[in-house]
Amino acid sequence: MTTQTKIGKAQAALKPLTLQSQIIQTALTPLAACISKIIAITNQKGGVGKTSTSFNFAHYVNELGYRVLVVDLDGQGNLTELFFEVDVLERFVHTPAIALFQQGTAENFHPLAHPSGIDLLPTRPNSHEMNNVDTMDIQVAGVFYDNLKVIAQNYDFVLCDTPPTPGVRTTAACGSADYIFAPVLVDTFANSALAGVISSVENIGRIIEADLSLTGILINQLQDSTEETKQDYKKLSTRIGGALIPTPIRFSKPFARAQKQGVPVWHLNRSGSERNTSRETRQAYGEMAARIPEIQIERIEHFSEVSRAVRNKIANESASV
Ligand SMILES: Nc1ncnc2c1ncn2[C@@H]1O[C@H](COP(=O)(O)OP(=O)(O)OP(=O)(O)O)[C@@H](O)[C@H]1O
Ligand SMILES: [Mg+2]
Repeated sequence: MTTQTKIGKAQAALKPLTLQSQIIQTALTPLAACISKIIAITNQKGGVGKTSTSFNFAHYVNELGYRVLVVDLDGQGNLTELFFEVDVLERFVHTPAIALFQQGTAENFHPLAHPSGIDLLPTRPNSHEMNNVDTMDIQVAGVFYDNLKVIAQNYDFVLCDTPPTPGVRTTAACGSADYIFAPVLVDTFANSALAGVISSVENIGRIIEADLSLTGILINQLQDSTEETKQDYKKLSTRIGGALIPTPIRFSKPFARAQKQGVPVWHLNRSGSERNTSRETRQAYGEMAARIPEIQIERIEHFSEVSRAVRNKIANESASV
């Protein structure tokens, strides 16, 4: 090999590394001005994966180096429980999510800070108070919007988990959102459920007099082991059309296991099934993130490296506090 070829090869080997380290550097340096976009995860149907998607996607965006706030609008308080033991709510001063429906909250808000770097406006499990927001006048959706717009100025992305009801809270979250995602299931009621979630978002658009549509529809808990279920999946994908997030998330035991441990799915990576679930979920959440133009596509393409660097930075910062 000539010296010239050797140098050429060495330069070629160096190039992608330099690009990668530039991307990582950008992810580690917060933007001077926050992006301040609001994301809602919705579906009026219960148990489709709204909370799981909110939890994992919040972690995904956080690990891309963006500042993330999550808001738990469900009286079940499931998202809050994924982040914290409930006694944390007693021990630390915080603003509960319900305060967003009261005027003046934005000026003096205290989110709970999770060790991952994500902030949370929580809801206590079995909060009737939060469920009762759906019985209030729709005007409170405007109060929520005003509060959230101000609070969002401190974050790149605010992510709202919504309840399985098309009421005031879902209207407030979707009406405030710049991007809306819906997880759906492939089951007996898939067609009517899909029509339901699409028309529910359009209806909220009519209420707030804006042109609302779904940014992406994610097929979750897919079980396509038989020819029949494969066909059902194919038909639903075709029906969804352009809104489809191409990679579905399969039903998997590691998915639920990660939630029990309070970590995003890709943090489990030991057994073969964990690695499959990890790969598939990162792909799906990457496709969701790619639909948000403010998210730098290069960070998604280099998720593993960016995520590792961001997590190290957060761990070092909290160790030095
Ligand atoms: N891909 C998956 N594989 C296995 N289990 C899953 C998967 N996605 C979600 N689950 C489990 O399904 C259950 C329902 O999910 P989740 O709570 O996220 O749904 P939800 O839409 O928020 O429900 P609700 O309407 O009650 O708020 C949870 O126990 C969760 O761990
Ligand atoms: Mg939920």
